[in-house]
Amino acid sequence: MNDGDGTRAAQPGERNHGPLGTALVIIPTYNEAENVKAIIGRVRQAVPEAHVLVADDNSPDGTGKIADELAAEDAQVHVLHRKGKEGLGAAYLAGFRWGLERDYGVLVEMDADGSHQPEELPRLLTALKGADLVLGSRWVPGGRVVNWPKSREFLSRGGSTYSRLMLDVPLRDITGGYRAFRRETLEGLGLADVASQGYCFQVDLARRAVRAGFHVVEVPITFVERELGDSKMSRDIVVEALWRVTSWGVGERVTRLTGRGGRTRR
Ligand code: GDD
Ligand code: MN
Repeated sequence: MNDGDGTRAAQPGERNHGPLGTALVIIPTYNEAENVKAIIGRVRQAVPEAHVLVADDNSPDGTGKIADELAAEDAQVHVLHRKGKEGLGAAYLAGFRWGLERDYGVLVEMDADGSHQPEELPRLLTALKGADLVLGSRWVPGGRVVNWPKSREFLSRGGSTYSRLMLDVPLRDITGGYRAFRRETLEGLGLADVASQGYCFQVDLARRAVRAGFHVVEVPITFVERELGDSKMSRDIVVEALWRVTSWGVGERVTRLTGRGGRTRR
């Protein structure tokens, strides 16, 4: 789905994609006090015209306050304070709403911990010129992961493979969280009824984009495991992903068999 170096021009006969407009890089945070300043600095340096929105869930370690201080010094940095920890999905949905209410043409998802390298964002944005949604992908040729234990790689690859087969979606890295959406794509996904909270939020959005007929392109990235702070990965997050993906897949098969079209399961 890409030409190897991560960029992909529109092919002849493909829908004409309009100009991109200003990008908003949304960074959800929960206890990322050690990381938030560095990641914002790297984004501002790598893509100086982009804006940043930190979506903080009232982190007990003061991440929100650090973000406020950075925002006070830089008109392109914004902070969305949320009342408490509600999961990655809810933070992104709030961030998307914030961005869509304003004049941004592109909305980017990026982790705070440095796993998604801001220096690779220009390649994602180049690819988005000929696409509706670009996924930073670990599991396409050229993509890789640095500093992951084998167990985590197994889980991630397994999760992607299971989701691909269960949902019949032709993507290699369907759980990844480094993405660039055109505004029109997000507006076409029916975000109001997304209920996924943890990492399966990513699967949910990718599945919706493919089902809605959007042109989704995977660009290889190098995912670097965090050095500071703790991952929020938990057993609950994995269980939620497993049961939701399974129920979507089963639901779609039942719908096909019984010929009942229409409703997308939440
Ligand atoms: N606001 C908010 N609320 N942010 C959160 C929450 C939450 O409840 N939970 C996690 N985050 C933030 C973290 O602070 C970090 O910036 C980002 O979301 C990712 O969290 P990590 O805990 O570092 O996730 P990970 O490295 O295990 O998972 C990454 O890879 C997964 C696929 O393997 C993420 O990119 C996931 O989105 C992705 O599915
Ligand atoms: Mn991480």
